[in-house]
Amino acid sequence: MKKKILVTGGTGFIGSHTTVELQAAGYEVVIIDNLSNSNADVVDGIEKISGVRPAFEKVDCCDLPALRGVFEKYPGIEGIIHFAASKAVGESVEKPLMYYENNIVSLINLLKLMPEYGVKGIIFSSSCTVYGQPDPENLPVTEQAPIKKAESPYGNTKQINEEIVQDYVKSGAPISAILLRYFNPIGSHPTAIIGELPNGVPANLIPYLTQTAIGIRPQLNVFGDDYDTPDGSCIRDFIYVVDLAKAHVCAMERIVNGQNTEPVEIYNVGTGNGVSVFELINTFEKCTGVKLNYKVAPRRAGDIEKVWGNVDKANKVLGWKAVHTLEDALSSAWKWQQELRKRGVM
Ligand code: WQD
Repeated sequence: MKKKILVTGGTGFIGSHTTVELQAAGYEVVIIDNLSNSNADVVDGIEKISGVRPAFEKVDCCDLPALRGVFEKYPGIEGIIHFAASKAVGESVEKPLMYYENNIVSLINLLKLMPEYGVKGIIFSSSCTVYGQPDPENLPVTEQAPIKKAESPYGNTKQINEEIVQDYVKSGAPISAILLRYFNPIGSHPTAIIGELPNGVPANLIPYLTQTAIGIRPQLNVFGDDYDTPDGSCIRDFIYVVDLAKAHVCAMERIVNGQNTEPVEIYNVGTGNGVSVFELINTFEKCTGVKLNYKVAPRRAGDIEKVWGNVDKANKVLGWKAVHTLEDALSSAWKWQQELRKRGVM
């Protein structure tokens, strides 16, 4: 029988790609999502790609009775991947209580129900944001690097949630957990059937860039060219979302097969390579043949100058490695933007 996995936030960007990879690996997926930042049509897209329709329930993880109803309706869930969260850094500064409530209550509710329903483990979507700006000697940053005070309520919810998981497991709860610290996920499924669909004006680089390339935005602003980096622009570890999705499958295998050696394991999930904003723009122009209209603008408040991951632990222990190139990721993002135009979405 197929092992059953609950994916919260499964109609979102990373959740939908992960659902496809879980299905390909032989899992049965139950998606819950409150659709606050995604659309139920994504379930159709997942079915189109995998040939299997995942179960879907429109449920908010903050609603404990409704969440309990999901475990009742789908008995035998063995693992949870918890993506559902609010994730806009700027919005979190304006609406801190909304962020704390949504991101923290949802995790607590899941943790409460896990022992009751015999769920073995949970994978939590964390972020390299927990490292803040690592000291230069700590780059590429390892999982042991110090956690820095969060720059935003959003970042703080990631730190607090990591601690909640650790404290709960330490208390003797009969569950295990894997915290995956993502670097910068980009791109879309190679079929362009699912992808990243930001609400309104994108805050993140890739959707802003592809929307500029297609003419929705007149110009991309490069936030700062006077950083202490070789070309003056910021450096990030951009990871293709399909590679990132596969990391979740490896982590889930570890949990359901009881192969984890610690009750809470932490992994960086990135490529291990730092790429600057200018390098990324050049690569986009080269691999798509599209000339991008961009200009240098002032630095953006709160930006980290440079961060990229040491991913040795995920490579060795999870047996996972990012295999796609930046070109693959950027070409897929461009293909997706063109698909959105075809569908008349934007
Ligand atoms: C990348 C680089 C910008 C837009 C954020 C969150 C993080 C994570 C992913 C998720 C930076 C530059 C951007 C633009 C630009 N979590 N940029 N022009 O800030 O690294 O990470 O998203 O949900 O927690 O903090 O990603 O894509 O916003 O920026 O020059 O129009 O691109 O300055 O150097 P970031 P980003």
